[in-house]
Amino acid sequence: MIAWTIVQLLVLVWAIRTLWKYFTASGGNKLGLPEPPGPYGLPVVGYMPFLGSEPHLAFAKLSQKYGDIFQVQLGTQKVVVLNSLDAIKEAYIKDASFAGRPNSASIQIFLKSSLSSFSFRSGNAQCKLLRKIAIKALGMFSSSRNSRLEAVVGEANEELHAELEALSGQSFDPQQNIFDCVAGVIGTILFGLDFSNKDALLKPILSINQKFANFFATGTVLDSLPLGPLIMRHKVKDFVEGIKPFNELIDKHVTEHMVHCEEEDDVRDVADAVALAAKQTPTDLKQQLQLTDDRIRCIASDLFGAGFATVMETFRWAINVLAAFPDVQERARRELAEVCGDRPLRLTDRSNIPYNEAVLLETFRFSSLLTLSLPHSTMEDTTLRGYFIPKGTTIFSNLFAHHYNSQYFPDPESFKPDRFLTADGKLDADKAQLVIPFGVGKRRCVGENLARQELSLLVGRLLQKFEIRQDPNNPVNVRDGKTGFTRAPIQTPLIFKKLAL
Ligand code: HEM
Repeated sequence: MIAWTIVQLLVLVWAIRTLWKYFTASGGNKLGLPEPPGPYGLPVVGYMPFLGSEPHLAFAKLSQKYGDIFQVQLGTQKVVVLNSLDAIKEAYIKDASFAGRPNSASIQIFLKSSLSSFSFRSGNAQCKLLRKIAIKALGMFSSSRNSRLEAVVGEANEELHAELEALSGQSFDPQQNIFDCVAGVIGTILFGLDFSNKDALLKPILSINQKFANFFATGTVLDSLPLGPLIMRHKVKDFVEGIKPFNELIDKHVTEHMVHCEEEDDVRDVADAVALAAKQTPTDLKQQLQLTDDRIRCIASDLFGAGFATVMETFRWAINVLAAFPDVQERARRELAEVCGDRPLRLTDRSNIPYNEAVLLETFRFSSLLTLSLPHSTMEDTTLRGYFIPKGTTIFSNLFAHHYNSQYFPDPESFKPDRFLTADGKLDADKAQLVIPFGVGKRRCVGENLARQELSLLVGRLLQKFEIRQDPNNPVNVRDGKTGFTRAPIQTPLIFKKLAL
């Protein structure tokens, strides 16, 4: 009886909202343009039940019928999906009104319970300034003349390589070792954390990593049903409690940096640079943008959240594909030996190792880690290719569909670094630009340079020291990924064999 009343209530709320949206949206569409086409869904839940466990594939299929701009109703959310490079660029590069973030229940809950600064907020003037400060602070570590990143990755590599060497020739799952290594790098870059004190850093990250992924999965009941937060209240509570240790860790380090940093000579890491930027931002600008120092210093929290799992998962993808394709691995190692001899790879070598760079590009494409990127939202009523898109519409860009489009990447299911090389073996800049794992336009990833450099050093230096092999007793199909918030690589035991120098 109670269940039936709840269902009736849900249908009623859904009907009122749908009618409300219908009338307010058509009022906004003064040009009388059509909205993007799309499939019908069921009452209340919309198209949600048909998305399956890999929404990027379901969307790619829908685009065959409805074109590369279409819309689906996911519960209460209307979502427009951009399914091709042209559509994504047209919206995100040319039109500032696409630079918002959705006002969904999960994002609201996250913003209330976290120290997030700008990543999950809409692209207004305040957000733009915060992005600018973040990019400047990260630039300290990712300018190619700067050897700080090399030193930090070098230290993390030493630990990782020692752990792998101790197990040389044996089959084991390297996930924890990779996790520790990448957490150490981001911890040092952002907060200057000491590698020997890893536990204090790792426990809070561990606590948030999985919870975050589950909480933000696409098409969740939480975001899509009218009473989602109420229905999912246990999940919400679990998430809010789960991220507390992470918040405490970030708060502790950010506060310490705020006290420490008075001038440029004091800058030791990204959190210092952010703290200094907070102090240097003119008071009238802060007032005008209603920007608090707290919001600025929380940039470090955004960078930590966004810069850890992404790099770690991509590093794992690279290791898995290199193990699966020994000929690719051998050719990359040979190129490193020709250019670096016995010394470790440096960032300045990157322009001389086109094949290794191509391997990384192909790893970005093949993995398509953030299959649907991060969701955007329209900040104004707008139009795209003659379709009307009302303010507040959630927008997904299907990066996976683009990366597997045979028009740009022939034989997309195959791992082929050569697709990025010219006939004389140089990196083809035009083809390289077709790979967009960091998104495009006004909300493009701010950590792109850092991520590319960090991964180049992590993967290159690993190849210089170890041969990586699949375990013949645990064969996996390296093409498969596990889709959640990211498309994670398959977890599998591997064999690392220390190479004689
Ligand atoms: C392989 C590694 C990485 C990948 C694939 C990746 C990918 C992405 C993507 C697809 C977006 C969303 C773009 C959009 O909304 O259109 C994004 C946003 C972002 N990324 Fe990354 N990222 C990586 C590493 C990093 C690193 C190392 C950092 C910082 C240390 C970082 C910081 C951010 C931030 C702060 C945003 C939010 C930008 C905004 O909202 O304006 N990312 N990233």
